[in-house]
Amino acid sequence: MKKKVFLTRRLHKFALEELKKKYQIEVHSGKIPIPKAKLCSKIKDVEGLICFPYDKINREIIDLAKNLKVISTYSVGFDHIDWIYAKKKKIRIGYTPEVLTDATADLAFALLIDLLRRVSEGDRIIRKGKWREIYGAYDYVGVDLQDKTLGILGLGRIGSTLAKRAKAFGINVIYHNRDKISKSKEKSLGVKYVSFEKLISQSDIISIHVPHTPETEQMFNLRIFKKMKKLSFIINTSRGKVINEKDLVTALKKKIIAGAGIDVFESEPIGKNHPLVKLDNVILAPHIGSSTKETRAKMAEITVRNLNLGIKGKKPIYSVGY
Ligand code: DGY
Repeated sequence: MKKKVFLTRRLHKFALEELKKKYQIEVHSGKIPIPKAKLCSKIKDVEGLICFPYDKINREIIDLAKNLKVISTYSVGFDHIDWIYAKKKKIRIGYTPEVLTDATADLAFALLIDLLRRVSEGDRIIRKGKWREIYGAYDYVGVDLQDKTLGILGLGRIGSTLAKRAKAFGINVIYHNRDKISKSKEKSLGVKYVSFEKLISQSDIISIHVPHTPETEQMFNLRIFKKMKKLSFIINTSRGKVINEKDLVTALKKKIIAGAGIDVFESEPIGKNHPLVKLDNVILAPHIGSSTKETRAKMAEITVRNLNLGIKGKKPIYSVGY
């Protein structure tokens, strides 16, 4: 008898075929995210679960999962899983770091260039038929990238990769982390450690690369925005809940900061009436940090490999908790 695996959404065809060879699989189709009632009923007798960042795998779900051996998430973030509780229940958890490092750092850098040079804003101006005169001395002027200071909050894999991109463009990089990286790594990346307060007050651009945890929740609020430079920018490709969105809207409206590049939101997807959509000094992306053809295929491959190991009670290649 093949073991049962449930997927809360379709994965790549190659991944589904691979899974079908080994398991009896069922894939949720229809409303995304999967309605809670359906997840509750499906989780009861499966040994493997493949889930996505918007699926809430909390205690209630874990308690229903009497046979579950592994939760394999198609994401680097795992704040949607109560992994501490899952660990107590001896459920393995797999996730997909490393393979999405470049893609996510690229997106953060794309938002940085776009913000400083107002590319998307210009695109909107043309589409609205509002480009009236050419080449005005003050029209659509952005700011140089060179010699600006980028403050990276969280110099892990993605933060370090972003630092390399920035250095190549003549940007100074400072960072703040829970733990300072080694002197030799600081030297090879050309980055300088500063306190959180200094990161906030000295950066022209802040890019957030910390996971969403109780400690980082709403770390950026009006009090912090007020401490940032008046002409500074903020970029978030980590998790929406790290920023208090209402305060961000206030800071952008009142020009407390100059602009924001946002790929992740407190609640996703956001609609066209969301207050951020109304602002010109914001670039919005629909949570596409890891969204390249190559990266998403690698993530699918790792998701399946993590599941294969976890279902046998072994440690996934990339494992959360134990
Ligand atoms: C992840 O993998 O957690 C990212 O948010 C996807 O872009």
